[in-house]
Amino acid sequence: MQRLLMMLNKMLPALACAGLMASGAHAAGDQPSVPYVPTPQAVVDRMLNMAKVTAQDYLIDLGSGDGRIVVTAAKKFGARGFGVDLNPVRIDEANANARKNGVTDKVAFYQRNLFDTDLTQATVITMYLLPRVNLELRPKLLDLKPGTRLVSHDFDMGDWKADASTRMDAADKFSGAGGDSDVYFWVVPAKAGGGWRSQFPVSGKPQTYEFMFEQKYQMVSGSVQVNGRAVKITDAKLRGAELTFSFTADVNDAPVKHEFSGSVDGSRIIGQATLSGGRLTARVEWIAERAARVAGLGVID
Ligand SMILES: C[S@@+](CC[C@H](N)C(=O)[O-])C[C@H]1O[C@@H](n2cnc3c(N)ncnc32)[C@H](O)[C@@H]1O
Repeated sequence: MQRLLMMLNKMLPALACAGLMASGAHAAGDQPSVPYVPTPQAVVDRMLNMAKVTAQDYLIDLGSGDGRIVVTAAKKFGARGFGVDLNPVRIDEANANARKNGVTDKVAFYQRNLFDTDLTQATVITMYLLPRVNLELRPKLLDLKPGTRLVSHDFDMGDWKADASTRMDAADKFSGAGGDSDVYFWVVPAKAGGGWRSQFPVSGKPQTYEFMFEQKYQMVSGSVQVNGRAVKITDAKLRGAELTFSFTADVNDAPVKHEFSGSVDGSRIIGQATLSGGRLTARVEWIAERAARVAGLGVID
């Protein structure tokens, strides 16, 4: 019974939006035909706090309703941004909301299909849509600038696991009927998968490192080839463009711990490496370039 109630609680907004989504909301100019379900203000606040919105941010709300998320981001944090919604009544409400709160210089609302909206300006994207709409949007979201933050009310992104999530009571949900709300947060990861090559001096001699990374969303693992031997990379972490990882590999016949951090920028990774072990302690700048082919056989654990 408890489970059934929880499912109903999550599906209410989905049902409210279902008619709209099912009626071909992809075609530009479509009119929404279902009740609007606003995010309770306490949940809006939680979403913006989870994304750590600041005055430097540009926020886009996909399906912006009465504009409360964009307006709150502008009023509370000084962020700029816009919302899109198919329903012209919602756009009028959102513009009135912006006027009432004195943020018309920071925000705008457009009657537009969210699927036809250019999202490249966003540093933060918010949404309260449907599970399958989130999944349909996912490829476009994953192609955004690494580091773009995404927050979704109630619905996740399937097997792209959230970087953080929280559940909260939302007493005023569904026009005061009440319920709980899930909030999911992601950071768009850079594309780090594949082969990379880097060379820098170690103890005065050039040392070549060939990395091979496997990537699924923000999860990264891999191996590195050093002096003809492949070793497994441990602790690889990718958050936005920032990649960190470590491994131990022999240098001058002594095991040396390598700790790498760097920023993935398209076809380059630029950062620092700390090497320690044997008679070696060094901190070096490193640059890796994409490499079509790198050695990666015989990984030693
Ligand atoms: C559940 S409401 C969320 C409103 C607001 N984001 C909030 O959290 O309070 C979903 C909104 O998305 C809009 N919508 C649904 N499909 C859309 C589409 N394809 N393009 C633009 N807006 C859409 C609906 O008109 C509705 O206002």
